[in-house]
Amino acid sequence: MKTIIEPFKIKSVEPIRFTTKEERINILEEAGFNPFLIKADDVLIDLLTDSGTSAMSSMQWAGIMQGDESYAGSRSFYRFEAMVKKITGLKYVIPTHQGRAAEKILFSITGGKGKFIPNNTHFDTTRANIEYTNAEAVDLLNETGKHPEIRADFKGNMDIEKLESFIKETGPENIPLVMMTVTNNSGGGQPVSMQNIREAKAVCVKYNLPFFLDACRFAENAYFIKMREPGYRDKPLLEIAQEMFSYCDGMTMSAKKDALVNIGGFLAMNDSTLAMNCRNLLIVTEGFPTYGGLAGRDLEAIAQGLEEVLDEHYLEYRIRSIEYLGEKILAEGVPIIEPPGGHAIYLDAKRFLPHVPQEQFPGQSIVCELYTEGGIRSVEIGSVMFGKKDANGKLIPPPMELVRLAIPRRVYTQSHIDYVVEIILEVFKNRKNIKGYEITYEAPMLRHFTAKFRPVK
Ligand code: F0G
Repeated sequence: MKTIIEPFKIKSVEPIRFTTKEERINILEEAGFNPFLIKADDVLIDLLTDSGTSAMSSMQWAGIMQGDESYAGSRSFYRFEAMVKKITGLKYVIPTHQGRAAEKILFSITGGKGKFIPNNTHFDTTRANIEYTNAEAVDLLNETGKHPEIRADFKGNMDIEKLESFIKETGPENIPLVMMTVTNNSGGGQPVSMQNIREAKAVCVKYNLPFFLDACRFAENAYFIKMREPGYRDKPLLEIAQEMFSYCDGMTMSAKKDALVNIGGFLAMNDSTLAMNCRNLLIVTEGFPTYGGLAGRDLEAIAQGLEEVLDEHYLEYRIRSIEYLGEKILAEGVPIIEPPGGHAIYLDAKRFLPHVPQEQFPGQSIVCELYTEGGIRSVEIGSVMFGKKDANGKLIPPPMELVRLAIPRRVYTQSHIDYVVEIILEVFKNRKNIKGYEITYEAPMLRHFTAKFRPVK
């Protein structure tokens, strides 16, 4: 087989800034050992997130120039709406400034005390927006999804039996909707099978509950279905995506991922009353329903991005480039979530640093090392992000301690990734000398964004 190459050539480049290890040691300390607080100019390869970091195409930039900035009824809105409807088939399309704004609106209306929202795994902002209304966010990931070392095709799947028993125990009247995150970001960017989507929908139909997709990475999920699920190999990606959405009654979307743009999101649904309520809240918090917190040009770029993301060559390159990074470090024994997911490689910090207890945030330690060693920025997805506390303030850790290396779309080349491999292997070689951290400051919600740390003595 021939090398799978980047299916584009580069027209505009952006320099990256090199720093010395001594400089990085100081920068990290000043940032309280939290890479969220480092200036991007001090980062060489930024794998903090794949969100809003895509390189746009020349067609998207052309769309930016064509954006219609009319307050109401913008032509760009209609182009955007038509594209979302073409892919999703959903009736009402509501633009928002990003994914969490869609979540905020949806859960302000459907959430509240005594309500429960099941998901395969809630992303942190989804969970936070649910909990902010005093409702409960419930994760019902299938068992294999919780074991980084087990290889399976669809580790993002929801446990359907658990879903049904949860609905029976809780009472369907207390569940405003069931959600499914594709791909499952917090669980390793692992895909959800069409069969699992279908089965979740069937349970929802049985109990008369709306079924929503958190569809940020729907195209990557569609590609995994094509490659791994019987019966889909010869289907066009658009058709696979259309089938995924045909089972849902609504969706939230961060366009900053699979719409290949730097800002934007939307909500879509079939229920006209819910849509009306969402639009009314949208007007208070985001803007008029034909722009919803975005400029007309952003809507153009989203429409074009949604077209490009379902291109077979693009997705082949995209999924392969993640797998390439995963394979290279796995071959040297670095523990990761297997198999590699759709948008990121997740290091398994528990196995990487078995000598650092969860109370000392082994994921944070690796994040700090990757920065110091090579100027690479990554993010902890473990006890810093999802840890809870019991009545005595003792940590209740989440099931996994991970470090995510998220790959921005169409931004880095294979040699950037080869460099990342070298740095990870360097850190892995020296792992016995790596120490844990303790928190010196934390905010009451979403603490990982602003927390400060110090190394444990
Ligand atoms: N849902 C999922 C599955 C996400 O991954 C994100 C964002 C959101 C919702 C919220 O969207 O950022 O546009 O408000 N994930 C980013 C990340 C931040 O780094 O994984 P947003």
